[in-house]
Amino acid sequence: MIKKAVIPAAGLGTRMLPLTKVQPKEMLPLGSKPCIHYIIEELASVGVDQILIVTGYKKRAIEDYFDRDIDLSRSLAASDQKDLLEFLDYENLNIQFFYTRQSLPKGLGDAVYHAKNFVNGEPFIIALGDSVIYSREEEPLLKRMINFFDKKPNSFVVATRHVELSDVQKYGIVKPKNKIDEEIFEIEDVIEKPSPINAPSTLAFAARYIMHPNVFDALERTSPGKGGEIQLTDAIRLLLKEGTKGYAINLRKNEKRYDIGNMASFYEAFVDFALADEKYGYKLRQYIINKLNL
Ligand code: UTP
Repeated sequence: MIKKAVIPAAGLGTRMLPLTKVQPKEMLPLGSKPCIHYIIEELASVGVDQILIVTGYKKRAIEDYFDRDIDLSRSLAASDQKDLLEFLDYENLNIQFFYTRQSLPKGLGDAVYHAKNFVNGEPFIIALGDSVIYSREEEPLLKRMINFFDKKPNSFVVATRHVELSDVQKYGIVKPKNKIDEEIFEIEDVIEKPSPINAPSTLAFAARYIMHPNVFDALERTSPGKGGEIQLTDAIRLLLKEGTKGYAINLRKNEKRYDIGNMASFYEAFVDFALADEKYGYKLRQYIINKLNL
């Protein structure tokens, strides 16, 4: 049973300026909730109860969001707006939060390395703080990853999805080896942000990883790579070279990775979540239909 997860959320979010000048991108709204709220729900739904969020400069809002706001709860309870209290229900999730700061954004690999003591030798989940996995599957992606990992406890398991060839240079890309079944395959190699000519496939990492704690040893031996940052992909590559087995699980058709790290994908994500809003989605749909003369 995996009980621990790490959310790297210390990146500067420069592609989202000026939105992210004073506000963490992980707190940007998707519909009525901030992005990171959905990630916590996803982790809680698979039994995770200890979460380390790697934060940084200007990321205080994340800690405050998951803390209880006693004054707010009291004043709502004493007012005629008691029904609004249900929006704060998440404060009672059975999760213990831990925070640490990555003072210099030296890359995703370096952010993950900050979790070494927290993880303390157990397998753990990495969930990128700027990506939501939407799933309508009875057994959502993360659950399938955990089930597979349980059978291969000395390996690691990552989520993948197909991207356009012209987009491979934005992601860590996987070179597949043996197919295990329709959606799971063994990984031969990985490469961080390759050019389309050098890309071994169009299968990109999709923001969720289950790692064996041997990743910390690999991170210690990983030199700065693309962008001068310590790349998680490079540490994963080292693990594969040294004989650790790695597996990838593809997102299904009715699952989607929403990445709020760039404007184009943030806009798409916001529209999808707003349209899916139980209370306001219908009105928004009508508005768009009128606006676009559909
Ligand atoms: P990104 O590379 O997309 O985030 O990392 P970024 O560095 O904020 O992006 P730009 O280029 O400046 O716009 C994906 C995830 O890893 C975290 C980010 O917060 C994000 O959730 N991350 C990235 C860290 O925690 N530390 C880092 O040094 C880099």
